[in-house]
Amino acid sequence: MGFIISLFTLPLLLLLSCQYLCSSAISGGIVDDVKCVTKQKPRPRTYCGNSPSPMKFADKRLATVYPVIQAFKKSVTRDPFNVTKTWVGTDICNYKGFYCDNPPDNKSAIALASADFNGFRLAASTLDGFLDKLPDLALFHANSNKFTGTVSNLIAKLQYLYELDISNNNLTGPFPPPLLMPNNITFVDIRYNQFSGSVPPQIFTKPLDVLFLNNNNFDQFLPENLGSTTALYLNLANNYFTGPIPRSIGQAASTLLEILLLNNRLSGCLPYEIGYLKMLTLFDAGLNQLTGPIPLSFACLEKIEQLNLAGNMFYGAVPELLCMVKSLTNLSLSDNYFSFVGPFCTALIGRGVLDLRNNCVPGLPFQRSSLECARFFFHQFFEHPKFCDHPYSFAYVPCNLTHIWGNERRSTTGGVTGRPSPSYAALEKHRT
Ligand SMILES: *[C@@H]1O[C@H](CO)[C@@H](O)[C@H](O)[C@H]1NC(C)=O
Ligand SMILES: *[C@@H]1O[C@H](CO)[C@@H](O)[C@H](O)[C@H]1NC(C)=O
Ligand SMILES: *[C@@H]1O[C@H](CO)[C@@H](O)[C@H](O)[C@H]1NC(C)=O
Ligand SMILES: *[C@@H]1O[C@H](CO)[C@@H](O)[C@H](O)[C@H]1NC(C)=O
Ligand SMILES: *[C@@H]1O[C@H](CO)[C@@H](O)[C@H](O)[C@H]1NC(C)=O
Ligand SMILES: *[C@@H]1O[C@H](CO)[C@@H](O)[C@H](O)[C@H]1NC(C)=O
Repeated sequence: MGFIISLFTLPLLLLLSCQYLCSSAISGGIVDDVKCVTKQKPRPRTYCGNSPSPMKFADKRLATVYPVIQAFKKSVTRDPFNVTKTWVGTDICNYKGFYCDNPPDNKSAIALASADFNGFRLAASTLDGFLDKLPDLALFHANSNKFTGTVSNLIAKLQYLYELDISNNNLTGPFPPPLLMPNNITFVDIRYNQFSGSVPPQIFTKPLDVLFLNNNNFDQFLPENLGSTTALYLNLANNYFTGPIPRSIGQAASTLLEILLLNNRLSGCLPYEIGYLKMLTLFDAGLNQLTGPIPLSFACLEKIEQLNLAGNMFYGAVPELLCMVKSLTNLSLSDNYFSFVGPFCTALIGRGVLDLRNNCVPGLPFQRSSLECARFFFHQFFEHPKFCDHPYSFAYVPCNLTHIWGNERRSTTGGVTGRPSPSYAALEKHRT
């Protein structure tokens, strides 16, 4: 040991890597068989790998993750932007894609706090053995890479991890189980992968802010407890979800801002409980097999800006009360079977807010043929009569509608309108 330490007093050698220290020492004839010939023995490189280390890191936490990153680097099979070429030496905090910070448990330490690989297009057969071995990681962003395999349960042990974005990779398997274990993750973006099966109900009991599951292969019922979610942004679009929209959705009233159910295989009628979502600005259930009328409770969505129900089998009258909601900027009801509109809704068509094309409204342009409409209504009400459960609930208005005709008049051109929607942005593969 004393010998090794004396070597370290040579400033030049301080900078050399472990292997380099040994081989140069051998060639220089300084080190005899005791030191580097140990390569052939069961515990090779013990002298070099353990303390005192010839590599100088700004913090011992960085020394810990160094071999993890180097091992991962070796597993990378594709690196079109040569990112991993910067992953050399001890200055981990300046590796491309890695960021350091003072960890919460020791403000004088320096730790690897975040890895942001967005758009790097790295390919590797797994993230296991890498992600789960970066104990101080708070953020992991890996949008638009080509990582495959499943997500290790061990990432649940990363006590500071709160943002996990593994979107637009080729990850497979069921909904990642570590997300259901005790953890501190509040931002989950697993969109654009090949996850399949069901979405476990437990995910809706986690204290999440963001849950983006869109563009996977989930193909089962939406869990009954969906409304237990604390998420502000929920994107379930472009999967194969079946069954009705759970009635529990109303429980998310104080938190839910945006929900996308677009392009699934949802069926049944809209639960009036959706009307409780008084914070909601975006509701998109377009391109499903939903049916029935629009519940009058939708007029209670006092902050709603974009409401898309296009491409379903809705029928009845478009509620005048809904058309009176002042915050609405886009009410898309095209490709349904609505057959009545009143003056307020007609005015919205005129202003380009309401799209009612390809419905069954007599006298309105761009409607379905009367034959097509007659066929639908015959099928729906006579051939295989299907009516919504709780018919009276469709007339129930669970609010006092002050936002429609109270004194208080909110501006439609306020700061909220025109704000880009995070959930709609998540329909894009790439994060910008
Ligand atoms: C990456 O490195 C290779 C080989 O050194 C080089 O041919 C290529 O142009 C580099 N690519 C970029 C994007 O820098
Ligand atoms: C905090 O980190 C510094 C720098 O790594 C270290 O010297 C110190 O011992 C750590 N303190 C505790 C309480 O772990
Ligand atoms: C995922 O894999 C499929 C086939 O295995 C391939 O066609 C597709 O391009 C891959 N996607 C990405 C983002 O690598
Ligand atoms: C969550 O974070 C807190 C505070 O940092 C920590 O005490 C706790 O162990 C973490 N929980 C998990 C499951 O890692
Ligand atoms: C309104 O919403 C529909 C459905 O999301 C969309 O296709 C359309 O482009 C939007 N219209 C405007 C003017 O933004
Ligand atoms: C109507 O509802 C609003 C908010 O929902 C509330 O502030 C107001 O007091 C209510 N007014 C009446 C008359 O109940």
